[in-house]
Amino acid sequence: MSVEASTQQTQQVKSHNPLLLNIDVSKKVRGGFDESLVEELPSTTRARFERHGVDLSKGYPEKPPSDQIPLYVDDAFKIRDKPQEYIPRGKFADRSKKALFSKAKEFKHLTKYIGTEIVGVQLSDLNEQELDELALLIAERVVVFFKDQDLSPQKQLELGAFFGNVEIHPQFQHVPGLPGTSVIWDAHFKKNGFKKTFKTAKTGTSNWHADLTHELQPPSVTHLHLDAIPSIGGDTNWSSGYAAYDKLSPAFQKFLEGKVVTQKSMHGYLDRNDPLGGPKHVIREQPIIRTNPITGWKSLFVSNGASNLDIQVRFNWHSDTGSNLGTSALWDNRIGQHNATWDYEDEDRHGTRVSSLAEIPYFDPNSKSQRESLGL
Ligand SMILES: [Fe+2]
Repeated sequence: MSVEASTQQTQQVKSHNPLLLNIDVSKKVRGGFDESLVEELPSTTRARFERHGVDLSKGYPEKPPSDQIPLYVDDAFKIRDKPQEYIPRGKFADRSKKALFSKAKEFKHLTKYIGTEIVGVQLSDLNEQELDELALLIAERVVVFFKDQDLSPQKQLELGAFFGNVEIHPQFQHVPGLPGTSVIWDAHFKKNGFKKTFKTAKTGTSNWHADLTHELQPPSVTHLHLDAIPSIGGDTNWSSGYAAYDKLSPAFQKFLEGKVVTQKSMHGYLDRNDPLGGPKHVIREQPIIRTNPITGWKSLFVSNGASNLDIQVRFNWHSDTGSNLGTSALWDNRIGQHNATWDYEDEDRHGTRVSSLAEIPYFDPNSKSQRESLGL
């Protein structure tokens, strides 16, 4: 293909999807380090990285090398199309979670159906038994929060490996030297053409969604650690798929059970046989009603949905003590959607996310709903 034709292809693709802006005329997605943004790192992020020996000398963030980023959708599909072993953390944990709760100063359930905050514990201090109990708590409460955490990205990765197989994204940016620590950073999104404004705030992650639902084995525990938090706002919302299932009429529940839903990747790739046809996504069918292997409860497994306020929690990431440390949210991505509130205009927000891949989604017709199981 001539350079001219290739440029045409690039422009054609760009017009379909701003996330593909990085495709260049050599038909590669640009990988490697970003050298232009390292000086713009928020001060609290930089302090975290310096405390924990992250090497920023080559730039920040890092992407996989250009020649390893798949351009074509068939190559992207092949990255993880063989089942991997998954250890269901929390399945055999002590239901009372004595070890975890006795280590904490306090734990607060934030709403009836979703969200618990644990106070006075460093995630980095939890042993295997306590982490196992935490996995159970996350599976029951959908999302669990820890404020004032001094957490290195290396330790975050280690925790992720305990909960499942850490997802390494084929093209997403990560902390230098630490594939699997996805960088969620507004300044970087902006530089790559994904600019939000007050008028367009309901785009990207500011919509109800679950992460990586197109994977053969989508994530269970997903851990976002924010180390730079806007001075006001920037809350995230989560909703419960268990409770969403319990909201449905019995007839509709029956109708949906055993049916599948099509889930597609956020990132687009090209069709080898039709490269000018616009971006194609990795697509897989998943059960629309799914059984959580840890609790055994049924949930509605959809992305891009909405839900009632009574089955949501809205969380503000700010420290309550005025510390400059970060806040962690760990959610069970199998049973919850989330939606990031974009209300902070020109302020920056930065975090690292580690996603732990779990089982191949399934529906067990003998499983119960949450309300049925708890007698509600
Ligand atoms: Fe997300």
